[in-house]
Amino acid sequence: MPKNCLSEERTLERDVSRRDFMKYCGLLTATLGLPLSMTETVAAAMESARPPVVWLPFSECTGCAESLIRTTYPGIAQLVLDVISLDYCETLMAAAGRQAEEALMESVEKNKGKFFCLIDGAIPTKEGYGMIGGKPMLEIAREVTSKAAAVICVGTCSSFGGLPAAKPNPSEAKSVGKALGISTINLPGCPPNTVNIVALVAHAVVLGKLPELDDLGRPLFAYGQTIHDTCPRRANYEEGNFAQAFGDEGHLNGYCLYELGCKGPETHNNCSRVKFNQGTSWPIGAGHPCIGCSEPDFWDEMTPFYVAS
Ligand code: SF4
Ligand code: F3S
Repeated sequence: MPKNCLSEERTLERDVSRRDFMKYCGLLTATLGLPLSMTETVAAAMESARPPVVWLPFSECTGCAESLIRTTYPGIAQLVLDVISLDYCETLMAAAGRQAEEALMESVEKNKGKFFCLIDGAIPTKEGYGMIGGKPMLEIAREVTSKAAAVICVGTCSSFGGLPAAKPNPSEAKSVGKALGISTINLPGCPPNTVNIVALVAHAVVLGKLPELDDLGRPLFAYGQTIHDTCPRRANYEEGNFAQAFGDEGHLNGYCLYELGCKGPETHNNCSRVKFNQGTSWPIGAGHPCIGCSEPDFWDEMTPFYVAS
């Protein structure tokens, strides 16, 4: 390829990536409920701050990290290299063993009081359960969180216990807040939306403070309303139009999914506004009832997820 074509291609690549970044900052601004005129401010703050982040996975299924790496604008590389400084994440980092543990403690000491500690997964509290590198998860969590600027629970397991804490809970798993006796900022969801994770960090960086929380530690910008409040099928709920079976005429015509087991009226989240997969869809948008994945004890309290017709 001629040299000038290559440089044009790189310029184009940079412009596209810049456009995606600005688009993403627009989404963050809207998610936070800020005026869209603040998009440039959000972008400038995110580019200059690159807040250090340590991500600790405990008793979990890796779905939360899977959700993070599915971020499409910016892509995962831009997110962890340009937007935040992801200093430790067992699931994503190339380092392993002693090298990885050294990277963790180096970041914790260097950024003491300044880094965000993200945690996915509940913490087993029964002796002999949940060890990493010969150390109990409980001990690692206690050591790292005590030096963090804020502890952010990513996903329902770290926020409320989730699946590991569901009955009969043989490892006596607990949420991070309960296991350590500390206050945490909770971003529940199974999985949570990456946009809300980055929006939370953006809030702290741009506005210089953490967002207002509800009484379960969830940011109001994301969990202030129920799924039912913003559901596009809501008009059908009000009019008494309910799908009776998956694939029936009502289901295909956007009727309410309440009689198929939808837990939207009891579930707080912003899925219908933020959506998943580059803003393309979300459970109810794809015709599936909400299963209440961001509420405490949803595995015990919200089951059965389906109502037989
Ligand atoms: Fe509410 Fe669920 Fe019906 Fe939507 S589909 S209106 S969230 S009950
Ligand atoms: Fe979970 Fe319900 Fe949203 S199942 S992903 S809170 S629509």
